[in-house]
Amino acid sequence: MSQVLEYSEKVMDHFNNPRNVGEIENASGVGTVGNAKCGDIMRIYLDIQDNVVKDAKFKTFGCGAAVATSSMATELIIGKTVEEALQITNKAVMEALDGLPPVKVHCSLLAEEAIHAALWDYAQKNHIVIPGLKPPVKDIEEVSEEK
Ligand code: FES
Repeated sequence: MSQVLEYSEKVMDHFNNPRNVGEIENASGVGTVGNAKCGDIMRIYLDIQDNVVKDAKFKTFGCGAAVATSSMATELIIGKTVEEALQITNKAVMEALDGLPPVKVHCSLLAEEAIHAALWDYAQKNHIVIPGLKPPVKDIEEVSEEK
């Protein structure tokens, strides 16, 4: 028996019309994170200039909630400084989407971790340290266990 999940209008909007889909050539940072349990993968590209996220794009091979959270995450991160971008949590992305069904909360973790992985890649490429940024995970199961 399958359960019918209730999604907010914002989730449905971002799923049906995802913003910022695609790639950025010569991106400042690229982050890829997967979820081994469902097999979904999210990749986020960032264009960072003068410590500000000028552009963000994503490619998500995943469920509707993962597509909607990546779309919203890119919207939230554009225009932010690197430090502000680091503060964008999966909770903030969910709130901006008016919530997610409990069984889909883990999908939003992909967005938070993909942003962190892209920031990490940016920091590595530029030989800088972003205070508070931890090395990225390849699979969100590694973080969801801790939370
Ligand atoms: Fe895999 Fe949503 S079910 S990310």
